[in-house]
Amino acid sequence: MKSINEIYRESFYLENTEDGRAFLAIVRPLLHHPAVHILSTYRHHMSTDRLQHVTSVAYLAYHICREQGLAVEEVCHAALLHDLFYFDSERGDAPRFPWVRHPVIAWENARELYPFTEVGRDIICHHMWPLTLHLPRTREGRIVSWADKYCAMREFFRGFQKPSYIRRKDTRP
Ligand SMILES: [Fe+2]
Ligand SMILES: [Fe+2]
Repeated sequence: MKSINEIYRESFYLENTEDGRAFLAIVRPLLHHPAVHILSTYRHHMSTDRLQHVTSVAYLAYHICREQGLAVEEVCHAALLHDLFYFDSERGDAPRFPWVRHPVIAWENARELYPFTEVGRDIICHHMWPLTLHLPRTREGRIVSWADKYCAMREFFRGFQKPSYIRRKDTRP
């Protein structure tokens, strides 16, 4: 099994690996949907954009779920849409307490794009535990919540390391 670091880095070059291409085969239609693709225009966690963030989270969750023998298709789609919201603190249009409110907003948007079951709802609505106090009830939900935190930490940390002129040009680690 690859290391988490290796998987995270691969998520920036998905076309280059067999696993990356297998993942893309699952999520490509949704990835190119205009409602999802526009996430690339939102900066996220200082050093990356929202589309790259959700892609990294989904790719990590894909590996872990596959390793644990869980069905990956719904996990990949839910993880890809877990931050499907269109406001930004930097643009000044975010509601109050965005870190608490965005999971439900993302769910309302995501359910329009994919026929999720309870697993998908759990993944999206509860990914911000413990900030939202709603513990994910499914294994898939806990995996995506963990993957989200791992990626967020990497992204925040890198944001402090890279000067802003590099951040604007290149979101890769
Ligand atoms: Fe989130
Ligand atoms: Fe996230």
